[in-house]
Amino acid sequence: MLAVVVLVGAQWGDEGKGKVTDFLAARADIVVRYQGGNNAGHTVVVGEEEFKLHLIPSGILHADKTCVIANGVVIDPAVLVAEIEELQRRGVKMARLLISERAHLILPYHRLQDAAEENRKENGRIGTTGRGIGPAYMDKAARTGIRMVDLLDAGTLCRRLAENVAFKNSLFGRVYGTEGVSLEELHRACLQYAEKLGRYVTDTGVVLHQAISEGKNVLFEGAQGTLLDIDHGTYPFVTSSNPTAGAACVGAGVGPRVINTVMGIAKAYTTRVGGGPFPTELHDGLGEEIRTRGREFGTTTGRPRRCGWFDAVIARYAVRINGLDYLCITKLDVLTGIPVLKICRAYRHQGEEIADFPASLRMLGECEPVYEELPGWQEEISGARRVEDLPENARRYIARLSELAGAPVAMIGVGTRREQTIVCHSVF
Ligand code: GDP
Ligand code: IMO
Ligand code: MG
Repeated sequence: MLAVVVLVGAQWGDEGKGKVTDFLAARADIVVRYQGGNNAGHTVVVGEEEFKLHLIPSGILHADKTCVIANGVVIDPAVLVAEIEELQRRGVKMARLLISERAHLILPYHRLQDAAEENRKENGRIGTTGRGIGPAYMDKAARTGIRMVDLLDAGTLCRRLAENVAFKNSLFGRVYGTEGVSLEELHRACLQYAEKLGRYVTDTGVVLHQAISEGKNVLFEGAQGTLLDIDHGTYPFVTSSNPTAGAACVGAGVGPRVINTVMGIAKAYTTRVGGGPFPTELHDGLGEEIRTRGREFGTTTGRPRRCGWFDAVIARYAVRINGLDYLCITKLDVLTGIPVLKICRAYRHQGEEIADFPASLRMLGECEPVYEELPGWQEEISGARRVEDLPENARRYIARLSELAGAPVAMIGVGTRREQTIVCHSVF
């Protein structure tokens, strides 16, 4: 079956999108990143090797796949050059990497502004990854951004850098009271990036259109997750892009009717890095145990991830906002050995049950999870390859998540390796 499939995070990011993308990439022709930047950290384990990808699509570990960094991504050229060189050093080929001309750049003044903004907010820090993501999207919206195509055009680059550095340096000096950047150094660095990245830059929208009209399999790899979406997430504790499925079209330049399937990736529990409310968060020893067993430390910043029970209110919301056809439940193996598992089926707010995810953060902070309990399992499941290999209680847990979320489960993850994946329904 030929298909265009969008994968999105159904929670607060780090659901295992990288692993699932790498797994599904075996059947895809093209893998596309369409939003976010190097705030993403996608871990892929192949054999004995672990790769942490930040900008390059997780299809790159299959030699014959075209990998596209599309227009909706914000690219830090220093990070991209380093990522390319590191992967090449490990024997990964870059021959099929393509970068959109229209993608915006993250430059050093964006990183400085990200840090300065976080420092300014004494309370209510977002806990960003510090990669300059927010300021780069700010400049894109303000129409002062510099795009990949401008990086390759010496005259435009020189003019746009001079304008931007003058303004940013006055912002740093007069508003934030911090040091700015050197125009000469930045200009020199940009010329080097242009030389190293130029060969990959093209009109990726044309490439995707051609591939889709030829009936190729295209896989869109979301970064972040539904609750980090700037429109639909826990604003202001969100990222500055739209990690939800609709953004795949805008972020890659394809029409909505070409998408056949949308799959949401969710952990069998919930995690979050950074600030903001988290109704099912566990503050006890069990939260600690899940963090240790699931190795829940940020791929990008190394920060400990906050851990809690599976939240079906969030999953239901993700199903609705993204139009999810399927769920992929990852890290089921991490729950092995926990005697009783809880699933949040609704929230209670001021004595009343609410079933939908609230917009107000004050209200979300006041919500208490309404749990139902299911018996856990003791058997090792990391060797399971078919649903029938799972213990009955694990199957019942998955079935109940699916029922409460309102979407069928197409895949289940039982370990970090490619092969530790159960496919219940094939999307390609
Ligand atoms: P992403 O940002 O959504 O790609 O997720 P991350 O890579 O940041 O975090 C997911 C982590 O869980 C990575 O270390 C993966 O290797 C790991 N992982 C993914 N799927 C599974 C699974 O089914 N079981 C276990 N134990 N680990 C998994
Ligand atoms: P992947 O793709 C988890 C979080 C940050 C912070 C908020 C805003 O690996 O799932 P930003 O730097 O984007 O302005 O930070 O968003 N965040 C992520 N959390 N996984 C990610 O990506 C994230 N990318 C950003 O921790 O709370
Ligand atoms: Mg991650």
